[in-house]
Amino acid sequence: MNVLVTAGPTREYFDEVWFLSNPSSGRTGFAIARVFADAGHDVTLVSGPTCLSAPVGVKFVPVTSTCELRDAVTQHVADAEVVIMAAAPVDYRPACPQAGKMKKTADKMLVELVRNPDILKGIGRNKGARILIGFALEAADLRSNALRKLTEKHLDLIVANSPSAFGGDRTSVEILGPGGVVDILDDVSKEELAGRLLDLVGNLSGGR
Ligand code: CTP
Repeated sequence: MNVLVTAGPTREYFDEVWFLSNPSSGRTGFAIARVFADAGHDVTLVSGPTCLSAPVGVKFVPVTSTCELRDAVTQHVADAEVVIMAAAPVDYRPACPQAGKMKKTADKMLVELVRNPDILKGIGRNKGARILIGFALEAADLRSNALRKLTEKHLDLIVANSPSAFGGDRTSVEILGPGGVVDILDDVSKEELAGRLLDLVGNLSGGR
């Protein structure tokens, strides 16, 4: 199958130096891309800036901002039978990024931010026969917030995790579907999570 995976953070620049971002390492998305490619799928990995090397056998598309991520996803989604959005896109960007480097003059500074597109919600609106898997990063009310996102974004599965998953080798997640809890993985490697998603995609595609 053609599988489109996104990974990593995005960056939204205030000027040519300072940016708004988050600590996503990209490890989960890269592990998913690697595990699906090793299983023989055609994988495109669109990723924001990370320290990781592109997995062998994967088509790698680097991006920086959320709008660039949206553009790359839009370009590749038509061919994708499976979309797995493991990226952590920044939801707002500076309204008026400055050229050069901002100089510190005033004691206080107000920066206007404008909302970025919700990429996964956009794909969900035109889901077709695609299998769509999202992630939910929740600091509170993990399950209820994740289930709301699953419904709003028309997902087949959502992987709910907490900010403590950022950067580490291991993770603890709840995988939820429209019927509720599908699996709970406690302190597993990101490869093990990817392997479980591979199995679940196999089940979903077999049932279609
Ligand atoms: N996502 C996206 N586009 C965005 C933000 C998030 O496609 N601008 C995707 C993420 O890749 C993830 C899912 O939507 O698969 C949920 O992301 P998350 O950050 O948990 O939630 P948001 O939808 O951004 O909502 P909020 O920040 O209000 O919790």
